[in-house]
Amino acid sequence: MIQGGPPLHGEVAISGAKNAAVAIIPAALMVDGVCRLENLPQISDVEMLLTILRELGAGIRHIDKSTVEIDCTDVHFQDAPFELMRKIRASYYLIGAMLGRFGTAKTTMPGGCNFGVRPIDQHIKGMTALGASVLVENGFIYANAGENGLVGAKIYLDKVSVGATMNIMLAACMAKGKTVIENAAREPHIVDLANFLNSMGADIRGAGTDSIRINGVTRLHGGTYTIIPDQIEAGTFMCAAAATGGEVLVKNVIPRHLECISAKLRECGATVEEYGDAVLVRRTGRLRSTNIKTQPYPGFPTDMQPMMGVLLCLAEGTSVISEGIYDNRFKYMDELRRMGAEVQVDGRTAIIEGVGGFHGTNVRACDLRAGAAVVVAGLCAEGKTLVEDIHYIERGYEDFVGKLSGLGADIRRVTDCDPVHGCAAIFCD
Ligand code: UD1
Repeated sequence: MIQGGPPLHGEVAISGAKNAAVAIIPAALMVDGVCRLENLPQISDVEMLLTILRELGAGIRHIDKSTVEIDCTDVHFQDAPFELMRKIRASYYLIGAMLGRFGTAKTTMPGGCNFGVRPIDQHIKGMTALGASVLVENGFIYANAGENGLVGAKIYLDKVSVGATMNIMLAACMAKGKTVIENAAREPHIVDLANFLNSMGADIRGAGTDSIRINGVTRLHGGTYTIIPDQIEAGTFMCAAAATGGEVLVKNVIPRHLECISAKLRECGATVEEYGDAVLVRRTGRLRSTNIKTQPYPGFPTDMQPMMGVLLCLAEGTSVISEGIYDNRFKYMDELRRMGAEVQVDGRTAIIEGVGGFHGTNVRACDLRAGAAVVVAGLCAEGKTLVEDIHYIERGYEDFVGKLSGLGADIRRVTDCDPVHGCAAIFCD
């Protein structure tokens, strides 16, 4: 429940990156020893993955709120909790991790935010190139490395895919010989996964470029690793500061990862100052329109599109958003229209005529980022906004309500749900 109006002011600390954490936790399955992960975000996707690992035999010890020790010394191949796997997109990383650890994998087809068809053919192509036989049947994925185990190969991705790049990295790091992934994705969390694996003894070079080279090793050992800050959580607070006309110091970030977001906010009339590990966002004048095209990194991230969409709905003039990754990522615009936005959506394009303001009403979080976007809209709206289905938001944002309250927002959570078992949600990015 949000009472809109107050501009956000103050400081907010950003948590660890969801999309790095959800790959690094499955990666821990391949480690022969104890992994201590620091800066893990407290979100339900992380809890679900830790639960899956625990059911595979891993020892999980929470050291403090953002530090967990994962001991996979005694894990063994067995049926994993498929109901949980089905709920999260990132369960696809268990294919690469299980193949690497056990030589065999059984997972469900992954869930994920429902913004169009989301095939995993490039993941399968990669695993097959490494010598695995992969069968997709009745919603399950079975993969087997055979008697000789995985063998390095040259893999050219037909599409720049974050998930396929990371999954192939996982499977290849203990394959025999050298793997090269061409046309690889370059997102910060890909570099983070490579850094994690390398710190546990893997030999991966080139992460962050479109050509990644992996020399297989026989064993990964334990160690301590700190996850990078979340680019999208940071961008969300940056947009919220600009949208409400406030001033917020967004701390514990890597400003380089935020450059595409900072550039767009400046085009919209906000001031963004960069410091060593923080950015200050301020907006005093009227928001100005601009155009956005979402693209793989270092382009503008598709996961930031809904939050920027909110801003552009309030900006003077006409803005155009072209969604370059997904077919169906404008459902949240229906919710914003209920709050007064003027938007026309045609396929992957949205044409926005800026309005003077939103009015509060009942809206839904259609998925994780769409949920964050309607909350940001609610902060700017006149009157009360009730956001339903917030379990989507809690899958990817740590203490969203608490962090916004700390910045002066009038927001409170009005119902509870169990993050691991109690939510009906099946989609998350
Ligand atoms: C990841 C992120 C998600 C983000 C997306 C793009 C996680 C858990 N999720 O999702 O938040 O929105 O990156 O930055 O990290 N594709 C294929 N075949 C494949 C794989 C992908 O055609 O085998 C297509 C997809 O349908 C999509 C595009 O490639 O159109 C990019 O998808 P991808 O980068 O793989 O996204 P995800 O890994 O699913």
